[in-house]
Amino acid sequence: MLQQIINQILKDVEDFKAENKEQVEEFRLKFLSKKGELNKVFDEFRTVPNEQKKELGQKINALKQTVQAKFETLQNSLAESDDDTFANVDLTLPSKPIQLGSHHPLSIVRNEIIDIFSRIGFTVEEGPEIEDDWHVFSALNFPPEHPARDMQDTFFIEKNPDILLRTHTSSVQSRVMEQTQPPIRSIFPGRVFRNEAISARAHCIFHQVEGLYVDTNVSFADLKQTLLYFAKEMFGNDTQIRLRPSYFPFTEPSAEMDISCSICGGKGCPVCKGTGWLEILGCGMVDPNVLKNCNIDADKYTGFAFGMGVERIAMLKYQVKDIRLFFKNDTRFLKQFEAAK
Ligand code: PHE
Repeated sequence: MLQQIINQILKDVEDFKAENKEQVEEFRLKFLSKKGELNKVFDEFRTVPNEQKKELGQKINALKQTVQAKFETLQNSLAESDDDTFANVDLTLPSKPIQLGSHHPLSIVRNEIIDIFSRIGFTVEEGPEIEDDWHVFSALNFPPEHPARDMQDTFFIEKNPDILLRTHTSSVQSRVMEQTQPPIRSIFPGRVFRNEAISARAHCIFHQVEGLYVDTNVSFADLKQTLLYFAKEMFGNDTQIRLRPSYFPFTEPSAEMDISCSICGGKGCPVCKGTGWLEILGCGMVDPNVLKNCNIDADKYTGFAFGMGVERIAMLKYQVKDIRLFFKNDTRFLKQFEAAK
């Protein structure tokens, strides 16, 4: 009988939790005060037959120690948490440094491209990411069913193949030319989408900056000089360019531009695969068919266009080996670039 009471008290003591002074006092009243559980046990002890007194007496002493130890623990734990919150705070200490955010490397490069072209009079325009076939392909002289459409693996909306995610920012060319008569001198930065397997070198979402210049007497020499200026501003004054013939449905003639390798200066290294050259953009003279499709007089006006990948340029500029890093939002990567101003 007494043994059961002792066990019960031990259990209650063990389970008791106190979060404030009131609860610690509650504990004292319940177990240690005059009318508390411990004294009741002592009262009961008097009625115990003599032959059991020794054994039970020892248990009761142990119980008393346990209760007192618990009481002290409760008191101390409160004192400690008091210390944490108030006593140990030094209000004169300087605060911890605030972590500043940083610009995303793609934003840095995009802004730099915009800066470079705005210095020679190019304005910035934007167009929609969700497009129609006309502005992405047909207006740009991609014939229906022509294999040129396979050059860029497109994401279509299942229910309506006329609606798609733009595969290049050249779609903004058609929109701007439809809406504006020359002179047009603009760049179009934006996000593009291609149905491609994601790897270290390719992503299904990436960014481009398109350039378009349409006016009377715009020549291939203007294109070349504009791109040389860009390359030198972006990669340094020693940078050289070369144009290789290429094909795009919306430009004629078309070219791809290489810059002399910014890593080895053209001697040949692993980044340029020993060639000394790095491909950075596609370009050409706007095909007269495109001008006509957009209601611009192709007898009066000529133009050039170019398009570059922002990731590609950022990878070269910062020597980033895996395009996926730009989309992972890992601050260990992102904070290595310029801090936000
Ligand atoms: N739109 C082309 C591409 O995405 C690039 C380009 C733009 C080529 C303008 C010529 C003129 O590959």
